[in-house]
Amino acid sequence: MAEQTNEQIAQTLVFPYLNQAVKFLQDEYATATDIDNGMRFGCGYPAGPLAYLDSVGPAVVRDALAARFAETGDNLHKPVALLEKVADEGGSFTGGGGAANAPVPAFKHDITTIGVVGTGTMASGIVQVFAQAGYDVVFVGRSQDKLDGVVGYITKNLDRAIAKGKGTEEDKAAVLGRLTGSSDRAALAGVDLVIEAIAEDLAIKTELFKDLDAILEPGAILATTTSSLPITQLAETTSRPSDVIGMHFFNPAPVMKLVEIVTTVHTSAEVDETVKALTAKVGKVGVSCGDRSGFIVNALLFPYLNDAIKLAESGAELGTIDAAIKEQVGFPMGPFELLDVVGNDVSLAIEKELYAEFKEPGLAPAATLERKVAEGKLGRKTGEGFHTY
Ligand code: 3HC
Repeated sequence: MAEQTNEQIAQTLVFPYLNQAVKFLQDEYATATDIDNGMRFGCGYPAGPLAYLDSVGPAVVRDALAARFAETGDNLHKPVALLEKVADEGGSFTGGGGAANAPVPAFKHDITTIGVVGTGTMASGIVQVFAQAGYDVVFVGRSQDKLDGVVGYITKNLDRAIAKGKGTEEDKAAVLGRLTGSSDRAALAGVDLVIEAIAEDLAIKTELFKDLDAILEPGAILATTTSSLPITQLAETTSRPSDVIGMHFFNPAPVMKLVEIVTTVHTSAEVDETVKALTAKVGKVGVSCGDRSGFIVNALLFPYLNDAIKLAESGAELGTIDAAIKEQVGFPMGPFELLDVVGNDVSLAIEKELYAEFKEPGLAPAATLERKVAEGKLGRKTGEGFHTY
């Protein structure tokens, strides 16, 4: 295959992602504002896909995709009907100003104390977010060592902020003073909302939800950070499915401003609105979506990451692809840098879920990703993934 220019690499990887974003809008799965906010605040992109598509020109993107579809026959390259329509009409996807009148969400439940279950990277970051916003946080882990790890993670982040002149020792003491760690789930009995961020395994989460259902008072909200499991099914294992909701944070949670707020058919409007209000109160941007594999962001992000691996399999250099993406579209990390941050095991699990749900041959996980996981080359956390650390 002839070597591609940086512009061609960016088009190869980004245009199918734009097409998919239009598909989500066409399916009325999410609003244009939420689709764009999702990618801006979840992944740090300078613009969301629909705004970016408008800046390139819908007809330009449509024509490039149509030419590619003629070559590949891959459905993911076929311009979706709404893209065809907007391109034909010379219209645009953004700029309608519809979001300006969106009502400001209000708390329908009193939320003063937050519970977090888990002690990994996401759980630690989520504990930090709520404690920094002034909430008392009770967090539960399996051992004192793991609980100490959460305090260590937060302390390191706050020390880094102090070193940069962005915080004081007093602020740090106040944040740490709001934390209560426990290895006993019963410590969560009095909290108003629990966020679970434990292993991404339905059996493990189901066991936890049943237990939390017994421990929490009536009216307490149960939120999951799952990125790939069916929240509806988790809700149905409790006696309070209307109080169960998804709050999907992004890595690193203290930095990425997005929370995907995922409602199921059971979630009550009051719980949805309270979680929206809470998300805003802790300085995050909430977007709304339904309980579908990948929600908004992962369903747009991971096919693009998978395509980048497939492009490398066809001969392109990893460093060239990373550089092309950062230079041409201004994403903060190239696809291989991001894969190594997320973890190849996590990425593979998400890609398998997306492939199972949407059944597009183009979504089949790249062979190299499967191989990296089999070899234990999971990314930064193991010292080697696509790049070496
Ligand atoms: N914890 C806390 N704070 C951190 C951090 C961490 N792990 N890493 C960086 N920061 C802070 C820094 O302290 C700094 O804070 P400041 O602006 O107040 O000084 C700020 O973040 C920027 O950090 P740096 O200047 O060191 O580094 P960069 O400018 O390179 O930014 C980045 C780092 C914010 C991670 C940026 O590269 C980025 O936005 N990357 C994209 C990440 C992304 O796409 N995440 C989503 C992944 S998908 C996902 O999470 C879903 C899941 O289901 C898999």
